[in-house]
Amino acid sequence: MQLKFIKISFFILFSFSLQFCFLTKAQEIYDQQVEEILAGMTLDEKIGQLVQIAGVDEYREELIRQGKVGSLLFGDDGPEEVNRIQRIAVEESRLGIPLIFATDVIHGCQTIFPIPLAEASSWNPELVKIASDIAAFEAASQGIRWTFSPMVDIARDPRWGRIMEGFGEDPYLGSIFAAVKVKGFQGDNGIDKTQIAATSKHYVAYGGAEGGRDYNSVDISERTLREVHLPPFHSAVKNNVAAIMSAFNDLNGVPASANYFTLTQILRNEWNWEGVVVSDWNSVGELVYHGFAKNKEEAAFFGFNAGVTIDMVGDTIDGNVYLPNLKNLVEREMIPQEKIDDAVRYVLKMKFKLGLFRNPYVYINFFERNDLKKSYKDSIALQLAKESIVLLKNENNLLPLNKNIKSIALIGPLADNQEDPLASWAAFGEEENVVTVLQGLKNILGDDTDINFTKGCNINDEDTSGYKEAIEISKVSDVVVLVVGEEREMSGEAASKTDLNLPIVQENLIRRIYATGKPVIIVLMNGRPLTINWISENIPSIVEAWFLGDQTGNAIAEVLFGDYNPSGKLPVTFPRSTGQIPIYYYQKSTGRPIEEEDKFTSKYLDSPNTPLYPFGFGISYTDFNYKNISVDKIKIVKTDSLTVSVELLNSGEYEGEEVVQLYIQDEVASVTRPVKQLKGFQKINLRPGETRKVNFTITPDMLLFLDKDLKEVIEPGKFNVMIGGNSVDLIRTSFEVIE
Ligand code: BGC
Repeated sequence: MQLKFIKISFFILFSFSLQFCFLTKAQEIYDQQVEEILAGMTLDEKIGQLVQIAGVDEYREELIRQGKVGSLLFGDDGPEEVNRIQRIAVEESRLGIPLIFATDVIHGCQTIFPIPLAEASSWNPELVKIASDIAAFEAASQGIRWTFSPMVDIARDPRWGRIMEGFGEDPYLGSIFAAVKVKGFQGDNGIDKTQIAATSKHYVAYGGAEGGRDYNSVDISERTLREVHLPPFHSAVKNNVAAIMSAFNDLNGVPASANYFTLTQILRNEWNWEGVVVSDWNSVGELVYHGFAKNKEEAAFFGFNAGVTIDMVGDTIDGNVYLPNLKNLVEREMIPQEKIDDAVRYVLKMKFKLGLFRNPYVYINFFERNDLKKSYKDSIALQLAKESIVLLKNENNLLPLNKNIKSIALIGPLADNQEDPLASWAAFGEEENVVTVLQGLKNILGDDTDINFTKGCNINDEDTSGYKEAIEISKVSDVVVLVVGEEREMSGEAASKTDLNLPIVQENLIRRIYATGKPVIIVLMNGRPLTINWISENIPSIVEAWFLGDQTGNAIAEVLFGDYNPSGKLPVTFPRSTGQIPIYYYQKSTGRPIEEEDKFTSKYLDSPNTPLYPFGFGISYTDFNYKNISVDKIKIVKTDSLTVSVELLNSGEYEGEEVVQLYIQDEVASVTRPVKQLKGFQKINLRPGETRKVNFTITPDMLLFLDKDLKEVIEPGKFNVMIGGNSVDLIRTSFEVIE
């Protein structure tokens, strides 16, 4: 009776409040409703909101009934199952607070788009935003209203397998993509029922794992933390990201999931952010293994006090440290009630923002009626896949191939492979939706071309029995397309490597095919930069395709035959060897900049300093020339802006897009600055022979840096401005900031 009363009064309250939605600011409504709910909650129910479990069984359903669970990591069991479980929370628990169902929707939900590292290679944030919006719609249609994406960890170490989940090495590029991913998932103006809450992860500096070994410790200066690792998180926060995930790593001696400085001082006090901090999978429980907490109870205490709102469960209920421990800690007055209330407020607000109190269930009919057309989703997936491809080499214009070609040998373990292009974190994607390269070539070529296909070898074993046939078909074909690379599980979480060469069985296959003397095109599929020195020296054409998802084969075929002129640029440096790692464009000058003739300068005895392919690199079937760089003011005061312009000419024979990149260097400063920093880019389409003047506005925030006290300053002096099509081939000018 009492229970019914409470529920009814909640219902009246919500409907009543709803009418005010149009009159009052949504935020105030949430605040008021949240306070009303909080006032009626027991301590157990409050703690329940801070508990996230994975999947359901009888025991977990009972926990939901008791109000001891706030959110759920969930798979693709479908909207009916989501509704069934939601009904337990809404109709059978005392307060009827809805659950949030969460999944890792990283690069698509049902429609699988390119991996994030590839998305970043497109340098097309608007397109990535549309893809994320589609992913959100698909997830919401399945009852999933929360994704653990985007991963915005800056990664400068390709040994780290999770480099594929992020946007590469640069904080500026990472911040741009962090923003559009969040907006794509959540929408521009509040989260409607076809959208989902985003999570920036892994907070923070997880990409700095020592030796590139996953879960390893990170020891970096506060300057590096603030200049390199925090900016993409700040960008997500400025774009109202709903959640942030605390990372697994130790950070300067205090694990990221118990780090008061980053979780509270920076997130809450400096950035005034009011979202939910969710731990990574059992990352609070793991404080024990870090040697930071004596036991799970102390882990709960440290995690919660540092600022972790929700404890994402380990593989068992016992793995969850908040559920069994927070109550004791409050009763023993180790944790004040008010702090629990604050945490619950964050969670309830998130549920309000998602509209879950009004619409806890998935409206299956709505999604069926309003479903996005498959042809539309596929066209976005295809466009993004094409734009994500980076052409690394194209000697003597071997590419694009002519469609009148008589025969092609298509070889390689990834050439007719539907599994691996889905890559790690393929959410609800299905292999049968993946268009392989073989199929893509068939789709683009008529019957007049013979496509001679054989695998040649597997991705990573010792079986060379397929070489013979591969060599034979190469000999009888006009050209060879070799599709090689990694298995999907060779990058992603827990996929660190010390050797970044292609598996030897593939490398040897390539050499044997090359020895036939036929023109060879290598298409790479991989989740990280690889050390491909021999290939780079010997093979005339190299196409970096990453893992492109559903439209893999169509995108690659369009690039190979010139229906699409490649425009992708690397968001990460390709090293020559693992010995060069970490290697990235954004380096300092050193006191002894390299001089070839002088031994005692900063260099290696056995390798050049330069990478195999630099950040921002990628070529086209056409040629772009940059000239006449100029600034409209040569002297400015600190509050001024100026315009830098360059003329870009398409001097080749194909229409194409160029990513024009702007780099700035503060030549002399009270704290040494990187030799260049990306500060802007534009993707420009030009017809053959066309010239365009490209302008960038340089605003004061682009000249800021952190001084010795980590305060933002602009110092007077000379600034170099560099523009070009990659981080190395740049034309330059300069201006001066005066007092
Ligand atoms: C990963 C997270 C992921 C979580 C939930 C963890 O192992 O580190 O990135 O969101 O699992 O699937």
